[in-house]
Amino acid sequence: MKEVINQVAEVAGYLWQKGWAERNGGNITVNITDCVDNAVRSLPPLLPAIAIGKQLPFLKGQFFYAKGTGKRMRDLARRPMDNGSIIRICDDCEHYEIVAEHPVLPTSELPSHLEIQNYLMASGTRYKATLHTHPIELVAMSHSKQWLDSHHLTQVLWSMIPETLAFAPLGIGVVPYALPGSILLAESTLEQIKQHDVVLWEKHGVFAVGEDIMEAFDQVDVLNKAAVLYMTACNMGFTPDGMSQQSVQEIQQVFHLPTHR
Ligand code: 13P
Ligand code: ZN
Repeated sequence: MKEVINQVAEVAGYLWQKGWAERNGGNITVNITDCVDNAVRSLPPLLPAIAIGKQLPFLKGQFFYAKGTGKRMRDLARRPMDNGSIIRICDDCEHYEIVAEHPVLPTSELPSHLEIQNYLMASGTRYKATLHTHPIELVAMSHSKQWLDSHHLTQVLWSMIPETLAFAPLGIGVVPYALPGSILLAESTLEQIKQHDVVLWEKHGVFAVGEDIMEAFDQVDVLNKAAVLYMTACNMGFTPDGMSQQSVQEIQQVFHLPTHR
């Protein structure tokens, strides 16, 4: 478990360094059920059970590390257990309990994190980590209608550099603006993450999943790098040509890139 939490701390440091985590911006959850020992399993709850807001049947008895609401990534990078907590989903699948290490309330985006974690469990994948962050260039693009078309945005980002296509083969989905922390945001994100590597929340941020938190970070990093390249070209006074459709298709075929999750 120490290894998983240390990796969360490492990624939190990258998010801060990248300028994607102003104040308490962004949040992380990781399913740690496989690595909690009996001592943690038998810990009594630190507070009365808290409602999730909906029933998530595949999360019964699962343990998660979650960033605390209002906590800063730059603080989490140095002291992960003071700026996050370990929660256990109750047997009714509608409540959770904080079991360690301090009674730090989990992130306000818990509905999105748990909704997607429930889907990941249900579909039997190896994905364990979910990330929400505020990458500057992708969020800036989400302020213009022309970039809120998932297909168009994906094609342009893929065409910036071959690696984007190779490492984000499912592209980026788009969720229209919704209230932060809402069930609507969680449910809309779920629909998009089923088909994409990363989901862009209009005028807010992104949501990504990974087998571990480093992989979720890499997905966002790769796509945001493409957005930076696009904007850098625009700042130099021209709209970038992008790789041709033919080149994009060649990479998809040669590398046998997946087209769905
Ligand atoms: P929390 O501090 O509750 O995690 O919220 C940060 C955030 O980015 C909300 O969208
Ligand atoms: Zn946010």
